[in-house]
Amino acid sequence: MAKTIIPIRAQGALAPVRAAPFTGGTLADTRGRRMHDLRISVTDRCNFRCVYCMPREVFDASYRFLPHGAILSFEEIARLARVFVGLGVQKIRLTGGEPLVRRDLPRLIELLAPLGAELTLTTNGSLLARHARALKAAGLHRVTVSLDSLDDATFRAMNDADFPVAKVLEGIEAAREAGLGPVKVNMVVKRGVNDGEIERMADFWRAKGAGTIARFIEYMDVGSTNGWRTDDVVPSAEIVRRISARWPLEPADANYEGEVAERWRYKDGAGEIGVISSVTQAFCSSCTRMRLSTEGALYTCLFAQGGHDLKALVRGGASDEALRNEIAAVWQAREDRYSEIRTAQTAKGRKVEMSYIGG
Ligand code: GTP
Ligand code: 5AD
Ligand code: SF4
Ligand code: SF4
Repeated sequence: MAKTIIPIRAQGALAPVRAAPFTGGTLADTRGRRMHDLRISVTDRCNFRCVYCMPREVFDASYRFLPHGAILSFEEIARLARVFVGLGVQKIRLTGGEPLVRRDLPRLIELLAPLGAELTLTTNGSLLARHARALKAAGLHRVTVSLDSLDDATFRAMNDADFPVAKVLEGIEAAREAGLGPVKVNMVVKRGVNDGEIERMADFWRAKGAGTIARFIEYMDVGSTNGWRTDDVVPSAEIVRRISARWPLEPADANYEGEVAERWRYKDGAGEIGVISSVTQAFCSSCTRMRLSTEGALYTCLFAQGGHDLKALVRGGASDEALRNEIAAVWQAREDRYSEIRTAQTAKGRKVEMSYIGG
């Protein structure tokens, strides 16, 4: 059958930003937001085919992933990261695809650790049991693991790679033991698919005690391949209401300004949960995240239609000063607030794929 959906990676480069020298001071975008976090996608590949992210009918054997030469090397990533940190970035998160399918990832972490930013990783957990200790030894601070269901049949169907829950649980345990906690466990909730398991997920991590935090994510219209519909979204308010009916919850303060997850703690002191409400309660007004794609394009929004090609500058011999000016200019020109203006119509637009930009 002919494919009707065409996945996109980067669209053509956006109009170049005229990079005037950045003279220092607070770097802010057009809406006064600072640049605080950098999310770096280290590969567009993944060993899962989650139905909401890399549907198998699109990401099949004929799908052309980025060739090796198009991908930023660890040295190139580390050089750029240093420039970002010099511009005020305090948190670096490695993502993918699945970051642990990139060979020798601890070596990248060794290069990034000396920069002094908080260093974290979002993973599907499948390879974590094998790598947790090496990641910690290399200087990684924390991991976040995606786990959409504790029911084996549901989980296998959602990852569409027949991958069992037990292995991900092993990975989470290994991360905790290696000192990479507290481990945040992300569950993307899709109505009619895994929403029946919200309470079970909350109960499971609540019973485990400190060391893990369950987080519930509203299913988003990222990319153009997952066939997102408003009806698939379970609003966070409903999630909080359901968990609270069992174990009463109360709101907790954010850990830092611009935190994506809203925190709720159990009134009886048994820990906390987080909800991420990009659809029903957009958080664009405090969005401090810059994204660097696997092939070195800069994206100022998860829902962007295009990126700014930094790789061309890096490989064209640009100085650190020129990179700094370019990044600052891209941030200063930033206007994004996609989630605030989302409609059924915008959701159908062509946007960059999640597996390419890293969530
Ligand atoms: P912490 O700071 O450790 O809490 O990490 P995080 O929540 O920023 O990172 P994680 O990779 O766990 O992402 C959680 C969910 O939030 C994923 O579904 C992301 O796609 C989503 N997310 C992260 N940043 C943004 C953002 O800027 N905009 C939107 N709309 N969603 C985001
Ligand atoms: N909506 C919400 N979250 C998503 N993720 C992947 N695709 C989506 C989507 N369409 C999550 C992953 C991972 C994080 C980086 O983003 O499960 O936890
Ligand atoms: Fe892979 Fe994560 Fe996308 Fe699932 S959500 S296909 S694990 S990148
Ligand atoms: Fe930031 Fe774009 Fe997400 Fe809004 S939709 S929070 S601007 S990444």
